[in-house]
Amino acid sequence: MNLVESPAWQALSSHASTLRQRHLRTLFADDAERFARFSRQHDGLLLDFSKQRIDAETHRLLLDLATRADVDGWKQKMLAGTTINHTENRAVRHIALRAGPLAPAEVRCVLERMQACCESIHSGSWRGYAGEHITDVVNIGIGGSDLGPRMATRALAAQQQPDLRVHFVANVDGADIAPLLARLNPRSTLFIVASKTFTTQETLTNAATARNWLLAAAGDEAAVARHFIAISSDRQRTRQFGITDDNVFEIWDWVGGRFSLWSAIGLSLALAVGWRQFEQLLAGARSMDAHFINAPAADNLPLTLALLSLWNTDFLGAGSAAVLPYSHSLQLLPAWLQQLEMESNGKRTDRAGQPIPVPTSPIIWGDAGTSGQHSFYQLLHQGGQLVPCDFIALREADFPLPGHHQPLLANCLAQSAALAFGQDADELRAAGVAESLLPYKLFPGNQPSSTLLLPALNAYNLGQLLALYEHKVFCLGVLWNLNAFDQWGVELGKQLAGRLAPLLAGDTDDSAFDSSTRGLLAALR
Ligand code: F6P
Repeated sequence: MNLVESPAWQALSSHASTLRQRHLRTLFADDAERFARFSRQHDGLLLDFSKQRIDAETHRLLLDLATRADVDGWKQKMLAGTTINHTENRAVRHIALRAGPLAPAEVRCVLERMQACCESIHSGSWRGYAGEHITDVVNIGIGGSDLGPRMATRALAAQQQPDLRVHFVANVDGADIAPLLARLNPRSTLFIVASKTFTTQETLTNAATARNWLLAAAGDEAAVARHFIAISSDRQRTRQFGITDDNVFEIWDWVGGRFSLWSAIGLSLALAVGWRQFEQLLAGARSMDAHFINAPAADNLPLTLALLSLWNTDFLGAGSAAVLPYSHSLQLLPAWLQQLEMESNGKRTDRAGQPIPVPTSPIIWGDAGTSGQHSFYQLLHQGGQLVPCDFIALREADFPLPGHHQPLLANCLAQSAALAFGQDADELRAAGVAESLLPYKLFPGNQPSSTLLLPALNAYNLGQLLALYEHKVFCLGVLWNLNAFDQWGVELGKQLAGRLAPLLAGDTDDSAFDSSTRGLLAALR
C-alpha cells in the first residue's frame, strides 16, 4: 500500500477538510497555550510553529504519518551507510563529514590537509609564482560546489579573515569571471576548482579561462601548481587539467553536491573565515545531527519542519514556500535552499518507479527582510495565494550598529503576525478607514509561518541551521517515498546543450531540432 492510500494519510485528508475552514485567529483564540504547545528548542535554537495552520490533532496525525513512513528506519539506513541513493548506487553519508573524532580516517585526513592549507595561506607561507603571498582566492564551481561556500562565506562576513579576499565564480557567462579577473593580480591569486565530477562544463570553462589568464602573466606552466587547487573525486581529470596531486582535495561519491559544504568543498569558506570557524560550523552541524538522530519525533526539529512542509503542500495546497531571513548576511540562504530542496525533492517518481500521486517539493523562494517587504510581500498579504513562510531571525546582531537590530526584529515579528491574523473590516472601520476603501485595505491573514530564532549568526549556529534543513529535506524524501539524492532532471538540458554548441560554432545540420530551436539558431548565426 502506498503512503497516500494508508490510513494515516486518509485520516489527515479528512482532518484537513475541517481544518482548512479554520482561521489562525480562531486557532489562537481557542488555545491560550498555543506558543508553548507548538514551539521547540534545541541547543539555543528556537522553532516557533504556532502560526502554522495546525491543531493538536493535526500534529498527532502528522506524527502518525512519519511513523507509517518509517522515517526512523530510513534514518538508520542512512547512518549505516546503506545504498539509499539506489538510482546512483551510492550511500548518503554527509553526516560522517562532521562527525569530529568519530569521522572516518579518510575524512579526518582531508580535514587535516585543509587545515594545513588554510594555515599556509593565512600565514603567508604559500607563495605564488613570483614569490608573493596570496591575497585573493577564487572558488570556481557551480551548484553545490558554489552555493554552500558562497552562502556561508557571506553569512559569516563578520568573521572574515583580514587580508584575504574570497570570490566566487559560477556562471559560464563570461560576465561572471571577466570583471573579477580584471580586478585581480595573477601573482597573488589562488584558484580553487571545485567540481566533484570535474566534468561540469561551466566550471571547466571558467577554470580554463583562469588558467590562461594566469599563464599569460606567468609565462610558465609550472605556475599552475602554485595557483590552482582542485576539489574532486576524479584524480585523472584533475591531473589532465595540470593540477598536481598535492593540491587535490578528495570528495567522495557518498557526498551529494548539495550536501557538500562540510567536505573539502568548504575550503573557500575555511579560507575566508579561518579554520577554527570552519570547525565550529562542523560542530554546530554535529549538534543538529545528534538531535535529529536522538530526539523523539514530537520534539525533532527537522522532522517537524518536514511534516509542516508536507501538510502545507499536500493538504492545504501551497505550491511554493518562502524563506525570509531577517538577516542581511543570510541573503543567499534562499538560493542554497532552492538547490537543497528542489534538486532533492522536485521529483514525481517514487523509489519503486511509480508516479507519486501528490505534489512534492514546493517552489522555494525568498529574500532577506526587511528588503522583501518593499517588493513582494504585497502578494503574501493580499495576493490570495497560500505561501507558507519560514522567518529566520537572530537574537544578537552580527553587525551591532546602534538603532538597527531592534527595528529589524520588530519588522520580523510584525510580518509573521500580520500574515497570520490580518486585519478585518471591523478593525479597519475602527481605525477610521473609509467604507469605499475597505475592500482594498482588507488583510485576510491565515498565511502560515514558522519562526526560527538563532542566538547569533556565528559559525556554530550556521552549522546547526544548515544541518536542520538538510535533515528536513531527508525526512520529506522519506515521506514522499522518493530518492532525495539523485538529480536526473538536470541531465537532458546538458545533453542538448552539448549537441547545440557545435551548431552555434558553425555546423549547419540542425535538422534534428524543432522549428523554434532552428529559428533561434538561425537568428543567432
Ligand atoms: O548539474 C547538477 C549538479 O550535478 C549538482 O547536483 C551539483 O551540485 C553541480 O551540478 C556541480 O557538480 P560538480 O561538483 O560535479 O561540478
